[in-house]
Amino acid sequence: MCGIIGFVGPQESDALDVLLDGLAGLEYRGYDSAGIALANSPIDVHKRQGEVSSLESALAEADLASESVGIGHTRWSTHGPPSDYNAHPHTDAEGQVAVVHNGIIENYQSLRTELSEGGIHFESDTDTEVVPHLIAQGLDQGLEPESAFRQAIERLEGSYAIAAVFEGSDTVYAARHESPLVLGIGQDGHYLASDVPAFIEYTDQVIYLEDGEFATITPDHVRITDAAGETVETTVETIEWDAEDAGKSGYDHYMLKEIHEQPNAIRECLRGRLNELTGRIELEELADLTWEGPVTLVACGTSYHAAMVGVTLLNRWGVDARAMLASEFDAASVPLTESSLVVGVTQSGETADTMRALREANRAGATTLAVTNVVGSSAARECDHVVYIRAGPEISVAATKSFASQQAALTMVAAALSGRRSRELVQSLRSIADAIQQVLDTSCAREVAQAYRDADAYFFIGRGLHYPVALEGALKLKEITYKHAEGFAAGELKHGPLALVGEQTPVFALVTGDGDRAEKTIGNIKEVEARGVPVVAVTDGQSDVERYADHVLEVPALKGIASSVAANVQLQLVAYWVAHELGRSIDKPRHLAKSVTVE
Ligand code: M6R
Repeated sequence: MCGIIGFVGPQESDALDVLLDGLAGLEYRGYDSAGIALANSPIDVHKRQGEVSSLESALAEADLASESVGIGHTRWSTHGPPSDYNAHPHTDAEGQVAVVHNGIIENYQSLRTELSEGGIHFESDTDTEVVPHLIAQGLDQGLEPESAFRQAIERLEGSYAIAAVFEGSDTVYAARHESPLVLGIGQDGHYLASDVPAFIEYTDQVIYLEDGEFATITPDHVRITDAAGETVETTVETIEWDAEDAGKSGYDHYMLKEIHEQPNAIRECLRGRLNELTGRIELEELADLTWEGPVTLVACGTSYHAAMVGVTLLNRWGVDARAMLASEFDAASVPLTESSLVVGVTQSGETADTMRALREANRAGATTLAVTNVVGSSAARECDHVVYIRAGPEISVAATKSFASQQAALTMVAAALSGRRSRELVQSLRSIADAIQQVLDTSCAREVAQAYRDADAYFFIGRGLHYPVALEGALKLKEITYKHAEGFAAGELKHGPLALVGEQTPVFALVTGDGDRAEKTIGNIKEVEARGVPVVAVTDGQSDVERYADHVLEVPALKGIASSVAANVQLQLVAYWVAHELGRSIDKPRHLAKSVTVE
């Protein structure tokens, strides 16, 4: 995920030290390139693909004049591969202004076309580069820097946290819309960052910028204004956690932080891809994709469960599709032709089993599509088409936010492949982020975890879209608690697994809505309840399942994919809190790795 740092200090201060410390403080977010700009005249811009240490080596060789004002950035690629030229900051042609940006500018293509037609040459593939050129247009019209900055921001659609410095100026200008920005108020200068860890070692006094607000930061003062230019009253808050906790933003573990990042990850995943009016899913990445015959999705672990969600929807919408564990995929036994489509679902884009399957599919001449989180990953590079899930970096070994984003992305892929056009579906996708937030705000998963921390085993059951969620609930729990957990299709319980259940084996049942599937799952619950087995119902209150449950984990009453994504969040929290109760190594469970690069 991209990170921003900015510093404005008194003349004798050295911005470079602060910027490099800030970039180091942002490294935990994951990135593929880094850069800084100092507001000298001309502006000094240095950027490098790779780690902050590569940038530091380049700076050590550069003959830099000391400067007290600057901005820096760590980039997580979204538009264009990781490279020196795509790294931020970006400047206009004359080097009058340098800009760093987090988020996605949705209308960048039309702005780029307009600027190109006006004779502007672009140096990068990024959406960001339109911003310095728009600002420079304002300067050329005779506007002051602040007005040129505001005028440029007004033209942007999408999400952004943006900071800009001007040649020889002692001011940093910033703006935010749906991407976080926080100001640090120090004794010897002011700070600006996408996240507090970037400057926590200098100050714990912060002002959080709200959507639509602008900040003008000089060595002596900070002024926050609204879109109309009116000054906004703000409150300075004190950060309670210290530098050591910084990467986790105050959470005890990355896993919990990433669970809480899901509403935002979903919004990023959907951004610019839904048309509310027509009900169409607009995945430009698939515009020229053609295929015939069954679609095969290959994946491992959590990604396989997301693939099952994708297949369930494809089948419901009339497309012949199947999900295969990548390690079991064998191009010789799966009839592939040049018109077959093979979809690799992989957060990291590097999983060896999934890559082998995709390479076999490529060799067989099939069309391949990667649904991945990592720009420039092996899957992204080697497949014919890519859809990015845009979850941002996931540090914890346990996949959480990537699963939510995979489900949303695969719902869009399934709709695009089946030609489905439905305003109800678009609304369902739109409702996911708020539904997750509601679960996060109200969940009693911690009490449930305390009640069952010593259970012998945990079983999870669900039907339809809730079946892969039941499997995922079990995987998450076993992975981080080291306790036995299994997921089953609810109807399968009576065909064997029922022999396992007892008073020490709680059954977590996913039941939403009041239709046929819910009724049948309630029937399965009655089978376990009658045997004295504790039942935890994950439900939206639409059925009478609560009558048979010892505990209830509530989700908002929503249909389809929104309901199952929200239900999964309750199970993530149960797994997290059981592991917490048992004192497990939550972010790095024993024997496991984040990216499994062996077959
Ligand atoms: O990077 P990938 O999505 O290809 O990884 C696949 C699995 O290794 C992964 O989902 C694994 O199951 C998770 N860490 C479980 O939380």
